[in-house]
Amino acid sequence: MNYRHAFHAGNFADCMKHALLAWLVRALQRKPTPFAVLDTHAGIGRYDLAAPDAERTGEWRAGVGRLLDIQDGPLADYVALVRAAGAPASYPGSPALVRALLRPSDRLACSELHSEDHAALRALFRGDPQVAVHHRDGWAALKALTPFPEKRGLVLVDPPFEKEGEFDRLAAGIALVAHRFRAGVQACWYPVKHRAPVRAFHAALKASGVRDLVAAEIWLREPTDPQRLNGCGLLVANPPYRFEQEGGTILAALLARLGTREAGEGWAITRIAEE
Ligand SMILES: C[S@@+](CC[C@H](N)C(=O)[O-])C[C@H]1O[C@@H](n2cnc3c(N)ncnc32)[C@H](O)[C@@H]1O
Repeated sequence: MNYRHAFHAGNFADCMKHALLAWLVRALQRKPTPFAVLDTHAGIGRYDLAAPDAERTGEWRAGVGRLLDIQDGPLADYVALVRAAGAPASYPGSPALVRALLRPSDRLACSELHSEDHAALRALFRGDPQVAVHHRDGWAALKALTPFPEKRGLVLVDPPFEKEGEFDRLAAGIALVAHRFRAGVQACWYPVKHRAPVRAFHAALKASGVRDLVAAEIWLREPTDPQRLNGCGLLVANPPYRFEQEGGTILAALLARLGTREAGEGWAITRIAEE
């Protein structure tokens, strides 16, 4: 396990994932009944942006660093949550962002396999009765911790994509959860380096027969260099009402701030499978 998210926290891919994640959790809050969130690849939960890891890449400066003055519009809620969590000194990972959105009756379960990262995450939430932190494989957690007793909620799957076969594992995980936990919303992040593996991923999802799938994608440039993170996507299964419209306004606002003006930049929300 070589991937360390501390180098990348707050970059454009985190902004995309977390702005849509905040919208999805807000959508769960529309009903008063309790919900749960499972974050299968959770990271350390909070990132020090002045630490050597973050400074070495400086990725956050081209990401959340360009958003922090936003006060209104489609990104206002996400940016306010990030500021409230301490930006620009620190940046909230997905567990901290979700935690900030839980009501007293809701809960969060996280799994993180890296021993040091797991220890940091556990320390962050020590004594918090609404958050459980597991030291276990995220793919195993998908099976062990779904469906939720609350019968509603969100599963976030955000693997590091450092091993071969991650797109296949992701497609299989989406099908597994769709089968076990029909009412659950799933949000699954993936890199867009080159189009071919993304097309194959979408084709595998279509072939799986899972219903109601939408892919939100943003590209900073033409995705033709397989060595570079040219864009990223969030595959949403069972999207809440108006995700396609409001997710689109979030992506457009992100690109207006974070875009490179290079050829091929853009965004799309594409329906992969009908309801
Ligand atoms: C992209 S980062 C997660 C970032 C986090 N979701 C966020 O948005 O703040 C991926 C994380 O998965 C962890 N990881 C890698 N393989 C794993 C596995 N099989 N199960 C659980 N966690 C894993 C890595 O240590 C890393 O912290």
